Amino acid sequence: MIYLDNSATTQIDEHVLEAMLPWLREDYGNASSTHAYGRKARVAVESAREEIASLINAHPAEVIFTSGGTESNNTVLKSCVFESALVDSIVTSATEHHAILYPTEEIQRTGVRSTILGVNQQGHISVDELEQYDSKRTLVSIMHANNETGTVHRLREIRSTVPDAYLHTDAVQSFGKVPFDVAELGVDFATFSAHKIHGPKGVGALFIKKGIDFKAHQQGGGQERNRRAGTEAVALIVGFQTAARIAHASMQHFAEHTRALTTSMRQQLINSIPNIHINTPEVESLPNILNVSFADAEHIDGDAILQIMDMKGIACSNGSACVSGTMQPSHVLSAMGRADAEAKAAVRFSLSKYTTHAEVTTAVTTLAEILDQMR
Ligand SMILES: Cc1ncc(COP(=O)(O)O)c(C=O)c1O
Repeated sequence: MIYLDNSATTQIDEHVLEAMLPWLREDYGNASSTHAYGRKARVAVESAREEIASLINAHPAEVIFTSGGTESNNTVLKSCVFESALVDSIVTSATEHHAILYPTEEIQRTGVRSTILGVNQQGHISVDELEQYDSKRTLVSIMHANNETGTVHRLREIRSTVPDAYLHTDAVQSFGKVPFDVAELGVDFATFSAHKIHGPKGVGALFIKKGIDFKAHQQGGGQERNRRAGTEAVALIVGFQTAARIAHASMQHFAEHTRALTTSMRQQLINSIPNIHINTPEVESLPNILNVSFADAEHIDGDAILQIMDMKGIACSNGSACVSGTMQPSHVLSAMGRADAEAKAAVRFSLSKYTTHAEVTTAVTTLAEILDQMR
């Protein structure tokens, strides 16, 4: 089997699994308990918080643990509008993950103003267009890197265009892969998830800049300094910490390894498949994602491509949502100006530190054969 769907999720790193096991077996205390079991768990959670905070240049008090990217995104949007009442308008982009777009739609239905900015063919918003939304009562939410195409947004430029607004970024795909420094980017909130960097599923974090009066969206116990109720998932948090540490220590190697593979793959695809469109920009993109579509898409069945690839032992994806068994055009590619048929038949390859040159070449050859037969 060849696994090229690492933007969906990644294989857990053995070291991560090893680090987690004691917290599932013998060290099962509740981090809020005051006895020895609880105190030990508390030390583990706080050590993870310190390490993850230091990796993003934040203070530990600025990091809360959540169940992942979806929860962090929902929490920021809903708390900023409702519980914390910091803003009365939201500005985001058309290529965000649904964990931003759907809550934005829901919030809009309550009468809160929301704006969805369009993007150009490379997936970038127009920063000039953003300027008019600069206000202390606005939350701007623009992802750091796109999960379908790998486009990396210009957050520094965005920050300087809306200096007064609250700025959130969904950094689920970029964290641990490219440098991410909250102070340098000037963000107020940032979303992270462990399972995209060889950590466990079901855990993530939210950065909340010091000084922001942030109230919990998920209510219950007083955990995470009253900003997120729920017993801390100690084993998952330790797994997240370990995965983040490994990813940061090997970030340069990851970038070089996966960039070399996607660069080679890009060339191989262009050479072997007529009418191919590469939707991942060559610059300002993650090193490990390559998204392709086909100019003659009306003759191509995107679903069938993925099924045949799967039958031949290659796991990849198209990034678009599958609703009741019917493929929907990718909202990301549609926003980038691709026609419906093309946005339905895209293929996303997402690589990891484990991907080899031979695997990439096999994937290209297989895709070329499938398209040849289909056409
Ligand atoms: C950009 C982006 N945001 C949010 C999420 C959701 O993260 P999680 O799976 O941790 O809930 C994903 C996962 O696919 C993602 O790619």
